[in-house]
Amino acid sequence: MDARMSMTETGRRQGLMARPVPRAESEAAPSVVPTTVFDINDVSVYYGGFRAIRDVSLDISKNQITAMIGPSGCGKSTMLRCFNRMNDLIDIARVEGSLRYHGVDLYGKGVDAVEVRRRIGMVFQKPNPFPKSIYDNVAFGPRVAGVKGALDDVVEESLRRAALWDEVKDRLKQSAYGLSGGQQQRLCIARALAVSPEVILMDEPCSALDPIATAKIEDLMAEIKRDYTIIIVTHNMQQAARVSDMTAFFTAEVNEQSDTRTGILVEYDRTDKIFQDPADRRTEDYVSGRFG
Ligand SMILES: Nc1ncnc2c1ncn2[C@@H]1O[C@H](COP(=O)(O)OP(=O)(O)O)[C@@H](O)[C@H]1O
Ligand SMILES: [Mg+2]
Repeated sequence: MDARMSMTETGRRQGLMARPVPRAESEAAPSVVPTTVFDINDVSVYYGGFRAIRDVSLDISKNQITAMIGPSGCGKSTMLRCFNRMNDLIDIARVEGSLRYHGVDLYGKGVDAVEVRRRIGMVFQKPNPFPKSIYDNVAFGPRVAGVKGALDDVVEESLRRAALWDEVKDRLKQSAYGLSGGQQQRLCIARALAVSPEVILMDEPCSALDPIATAKIEDLMAEIKRDYTIIIVTHNMQQAARVSDMTAFFTAEVNEQSDTRTGILVEYDRTDKIFQDPADRRTEDYVSGRFG
């Protein structure tokens, strides 16, 4: 079997291909679960002719919380969107480099972007519930996926995991818009969890929330990381220090000639190392508040 062939086989086993997986083949999957979920190498993202980030390489480990920090405009959201192909939805965006998810090229031929986004869910900065009931928001994804029956259980389980069940169990049929901002954000987390993803991407999920609602989201992240892999963009350094296992510090390099800024990954390490003993001067300046 040549390398290309074995990659295709891996892709099928991971179920990202549009074609259905024959049963015998899926049962041949190795029983050892790799701890690396994403293996990212030399990724650059362009918007038209503008290079927003360049040469980003990092590995993301399973059941960990990875924080991406850095000044505004350094490309954190751009990088986050690469993990589930959300940049595909931006016409002028182009992604270069290698992004492997369990060894499978996320941007490879035959990989189904919709399936990618089911496995790798996303929660945005501003809570964005649908104009539907609380129940229908959570049931939305499973219904689209064609799940029939037992939806009540999925809805309850997802709301419990998102630490919202007790607050909404008596008003499931009421509009999601009647919830507070913090509750709406937990509802969006429940909606993401309802389709059984492996990874949750969060882009500044607490920046529109008050400190109490923020603490609830941070607690729930710590709670669910046993079952999920989480990547969070945050401009709040205390939040990164509190919740994450690993931290990636990005900054924007100024290109004098073209007067543009390109995001680069300066340092990626255990969160305590980044905050207490960073290797790079630029990281130290940023985490100590001297810059940004
Ligand atoms: N959809 C887009 N079209 C064009 N340029 C974009 C788009 N999104 C982001 N950018 C540019 O890419 C750079 C990085 O932006 P972004 O990833 O949003 O940074 P951050 O999340 O760190 O604030 C910025 O210069 C921004 O203006
Ligand atoms: Mg951003």
